[in-house]
Parts: sequence; structure tokens; C-alpha cells
Amino acid sequence: MKLKKTFKAFETYQNQNGDFENKIVQKSFSDLPEGDLLIKVEYSSLNYKDALSSSGTKGITKFYPHTPGIDASGIVIKSNNNHFRTNDRVIVTGFDLGMNTSGGFAEYIQIPSSWAVRCPDSLSTKDSMMLGTAGLTAGLCIEEIDYHTPIDNLKVIVSGSTGGVGSIAVKLLSLLGAKVTAITGKKNSEQYLYDLGSSKVIHRKKFIDSTRSPLSSGVYHAAVDAVGGNILSSILTSMQYNGIITACGNVAGANFTTSVFPFILRKNRLIGIDSATCSIPIRENIWNKFSTFWRLKNLDHICKVINLSSLNREIKKILCGEQIGRIVVKL
Ligand SMILES: NC(=O)c1ccc[n+]([C@@H]2O[C@H](COP(=O)([O-])OP(=O)(O)OC[C@H]3O[C@@H](n4cnc5c(N)ncnc54)[C@H](OP(=O)(O)O)[C@@H]3O)[C@@H](O)[C@H]2O)c1
Repeated sequence: MKLKKTFKAFETYQNQNGDFENKIVQKSFSDLPEGDLLIKVEYSSLNYKDALSSSGTKGITKFYPHTPGIDASGIVIKSNNNHFRTNDRVIVTGFDLGMNTSGGFAEYIQIPSSWAVRCPDSLSTKDSMMLGTAGLTAGLCIEEIDYHTPIDNLKVIVSGSTGGVGSIAVKLLSLLGAKVTAITGKKNSEQYLYDLGSSKVIHRKKFIDSTRSPLSSGVYHAAVDAVGGNILSSILTSMQYNGIITACGNVAGANFTTSVFPFILRKNRLIGIDSATCSIPIRENIWNKFSTFWRLKNLDHICKVINLSSLNREIKKILCGEQIGRIVVKL
């Protein structure tokens, strides 16, 4: 494949007033970081972390100008290693992609091959980005729950349920036979959540008000918490004996309050989930499941496909907690 001299990329930069802004630029291949895999990106997707990077939030990206995008799927153009060959279809999520390494909001990325996973045959590169980091994370939470207790008929509570991680968690849990209670802060999102397979929808404030510290009635067998903060505190009071709580997010805050009682009286287990640096075999297991017996139907119903020029608008929405489902970026 003959490469053009330059390619299109979304770039975050700091203006003269010190504010962070985004624009679309042309980049040269020499602008890309070193790496033994050059990939033509076909699709990327928008995750909460991308919104933090593209708005200059401290502790995410150190150096600007920068191209965010923690997710990318596409075709290998050049490989300097034995594991991947030209034209292989690959998925790259997390590690340093889009953090301090030029990310997936661009027509090309160059990365260490140790970050890439082969895209399963029965998934298209678009399918893989409809799931993206959000799907991988939801999958890791559900794999962890399933490891401890079979999911069929389990009562599972999901927070941030209309967001990326939450929507896929609700959809997958209901496919696997769980009875899902979805917590949401959005009025008028009940139908969306019932369509995903929820059995019950609770408004965020009502849920918090219905719980008390240190223990409320034990209702749920398992939880997928994409939110943290006071929602996680309330979830921890509401689990049955032997409950499994998977914690993966912090949109409501990094700190939460709890006591020892959920742990020493109800034998609950709070398990942290990390999709950014988990190993390649762990990722391959989740992607293979999504391509076979975790295959989710009608994923396109919860995805909006955009191009780079519409990203700014969607970033503002996700930062306000107003995004619903997944934003897929077509390059
Ligand atoms: N650990 C990991 O490896 C990993 C991987 C991916 C993502 N994450 C984290 O998981 C979280 C969700 O990511 P995402 O990409 O799914 O984001 P997202 O699409 O923006 O979803 C977050 C959802 O949380 C709810 N929410 C937003 N602000 C809130 C607030 N102040 N209080 C309570 N709920 C709020 C909203 O849903 P409702 O309106 O329905 O409540 C929102 O749609 C983020 O913190 C992200 O950094 C972690």
C-alpha cells in the first residue's frame, strides 16, 4: 500500500490563554512515536478517558499537542516483528495509547506490537470498536463475577448504566440470564435500559436515598460499578451474603465511604477491574468470548457512528455525563 505523505488526526493543544482546544490537523508519519507496528486505523471509539485527555485534565496526558484515542482497530500496514503481518486485522486498547502515545483519533497509529490483539475472524473492526475499551471493561467485570458464581438468574446491579461500560454490561448480563437492576441519573432513559435487557431501573438519587449505612437490606448478588463515589458506597450496603462487587470507574468521584460490615458480616468481595494494562491473554479471552457465546445482537442500536469533525461535540457530552451508549469514530 502506497502511503500518503500526511494523514488526518484530531489534536488537542493549549491556546495562548492556557485553555485546551481541539482541531483537526494533517500529521506526517515522522510525527508518530516509535513502534514496530504501523496500523491504518479504520475505527476508534470515545471513552471517558479520551474526554479527560482532550480537555487537559491533570494526571492523564502530560504533553500537548496530543492526539487522544485510547481505542483503535484496523489493518497492519507495516510490521517489524514476527507475530503480525501486513494486512492482519488488529485491536488496540489501553496501555499508553491515547494517553502519552499518539492515539486512535487519527488515520494511523504506530505502537509496540505487544499492545495489539488479533481481531477475531467473526468480528469486524467496526464490531470491535462498538465494544472498545468499554466492552472489554464490562467483559472483565462480568468474567470476574462469573468466576465466583454462575450468572444465570443472578441479581446484578449496574451503575452508570446508560454510559459505555454500563450499557454493554447490562446487555451482556441480560444475555447471560442475569436479572439486572440499572441505576441511572437520566430521566427518560427507562425504555433504553429495558430494551438493553434490564428488569428494573432505579434513578440514582432514589437508589442512594433508599440505602442506609453501614448495611441496608441485602438485595443483590453482584454489581458492576462504573461510577464510584457515593453510588459505590450505597451499593456496598445493599449486597447479599457472598456478594461480588466489581469496581471499574470514578465518574462520581474517586473516594467512597464504607465500613468493615459488608465484608465481615456478609462476606462481600470488592474487586478492582483494570482493562488498560491487563495482559494480552486476558484480553484475547474476552475478545474471543465477544465473538462467540457473548455475541451481542443489535449493538448498532446503542452506537452512534461519527467522524473526527463531530468528536468535539460528543466529548463535551461525555464530560457532562450526558452520553448514552457508545460513540464509534470512523476514520
Ligand atoms: N478500570 C478500567 O479499566 C476502566 C475502563 C473503562 C472505563 N473506566 C471508567 O469507567 C467509567 C465509565 O466509563 P465510560 O466510558 O462508560 O463513561 P460514560 O460513557 O461517560 O458513562 C458514564 C456514565 O456514568 C453516569 N454518570 C456520569 N456522571 C455521573 C455522576 N456524577 N454521578 C453518578 N453517575 C454518573 C452516567 O450514566 P447514567 O446517567 O445512566 O447514570 C454516564 O453515562 C469512567 O470513570 C471510566 O474512566 C475504567
